[in-house]
Amino acid sequence: MTDAVPSLTEDAPMISMRTVDKHFGALHVLQDINLEVPKGQVVIVVGPSGSGKSTLCRTINRLETIDSGTIAIDGVQLPAEGRALARLRADVGMVFQSFNLFAHKTILENVMLAPVKVRGIDKTKARARAMELLERVGIANQADKYPAQLSGGQQQRVAIARALAMSPKVMLFDEPTSALDPEMVSEVLEVMVQLAKDGMTMVVVTHEMGFARKAGNRVLFMDEGRIAEDTDPDTFFTAPKSERAKDFLGKILSH
Ligand SMILES: Nc1ncnc2c1ncn2[C@@H]1O[C@H](COP(=O)(O)OP(=O)(O)OP(=O)(O)O)[C@@H](O)[C@H]1O
Ligand SMILES: [Mg+2]
Repeated sequence: MTDAVPSLTEDAPMISMRTVDKHFGALHVLQDINLEVPKGQVVIVVGPSGSGKSTLCRTINRLETIDSGTIAIDGVQLPAEGRALARLRADVGMVFQSFNLFAHKTILENVMLAPVKVRGIDKTKARARAMELLERVGIANQADKYPAQLSGGQQQRVAIARALAMSPKVMLFDEPTSALDPEMVSEVLEVMVQLAKDGMTMVVVTHEMGFARKAGNRVLFMDEGRIAEDTDPDTFFTAPKSERAKDFLGKILSH
């Protein structure tokens, strides 16, 4: 039986990871990860390159398998594979550093595609919803253009709208602004701040400290596959506990 079993508790955390371990060959990339994210919380993930931030995100929607432990979204444990997994994966939207839009489809078509193909939503409804979302991220007037005709910041906002089109319960962002020219960073962060205000549960890998302090409720500092610090943004950025975190902050602050 591959179908997911619903939880009996009403107020399950939106994301729950228990004793999660993962290796890439000899590399122990995630080590005993225990994490509960309540509904509506915005979690900022920071840490040195290679510490496992992207892998953590990718396991949350099963783009990567885990060796042991459990992951549940809104009280429902993720199955390893099958149709139940596809359905639960749609609950978790993901936005990457590279925008990954379909080059030969218009902006509107990019946002409509998954709801029509995966959810079987009627095209007229999908179009109306896509336009609403494009409005929300401030690019409804570009709906009929192709991705290459848009700036990086605009393309990333389309990627956010596209993820939202599946009505996810959780949004994961893996360095969403690090491929952007500096002047385009704020327009993407503003959309994310608004999403946080609207109550979306978010996990955001970013070194944008302004955003972390404005929208973040919690900071996880990852180091060599472990969650080494788990605290609020003010405490982390002003008084990190470990030498490793101090060293890391020193490096990002001197950029
Ligand atoms: N598919 C893979 N196969 C083998 N090793 C991998 C794979 N993906 C990631 N790794 C390794 O796992 C470790 C953690 O990678 P990950 O991408 O999660 O780090 P990160 O914290 O996101 O780093 P960055 O800040 O550079 O994005 C790295 O040592 C990386 O080389
Ligand atoms: Mg990464």
